[in-house]
Amino acid sequence: MVRGPSYYRGRVTIAVFPGSFDPITRGHLDVVRRALRFADEVVVAIASNAGKVPLLSIETRLELAREAVQHLPGVRVEAVPGLLVEFCRAADADVIVKGLRGGADYDAEMPMALMNRHLTGIETVFVIGDPALAHVASSLVRDVARNSGDIEDLVPPGVAPAVCRALGTARTTKE
Ligand code: PNS
Repeated sequence: MVRGPSYYRGRVTIAVFPGSFDPITRGHLDVVRRALRFADEVVVAIASNAGKVPLLSIETRLELAREAVQHLPGVRVEAVPGLLVEFCRAADADVIVKGLRGGADYDAEMPMALMNRHLTGIETVFVIGDPALAHVASSLVRDVARNSGDIEDLVPPGVAPAVCRALGTARTTKE
């Protein structure tokens, strides 16, 4: 039996999709859309990663993410002030959702999923992203933009100019 988009509805209500979103990419949007197949609400949760210094301010990341998901009913964007599990508890989240592009993502995500489950028991649901977007990572997007490459196809509308502004690079579109 092929399970259509509404099959999982009512089983999970609130899914929190955490990340740095520095910046939000088309890969992130793919994960949000997939999560909406089994969750009634998806909270894009912009958090601090202790191992990363963000390029974009939290205000800019929130603004860009909100703009990118505004057409998706049931999706909202919030900042995570501290521990992700405390945010999930306050949001009454049923699950954390994360996208996997490949084995490196799995290796990075598994300890976080185990730690979050250790802390409050919350489960992490992994979705496999669109393979056509497997190369789309915020870090690579920043690197391409930093070297004046075109990132327009990799990110939602409005994101490329904001990234280029933050980097002080000029080129944002294909010539
Ligand atoms: O997009 P990223 O950088 O891989 O996302 C990692 C992130 C931000 C979700 C993670 O660092 C996080 O959850 N930070 C919030 C603080 C926290 O709860 N740390 C413990 C994680 S097990």
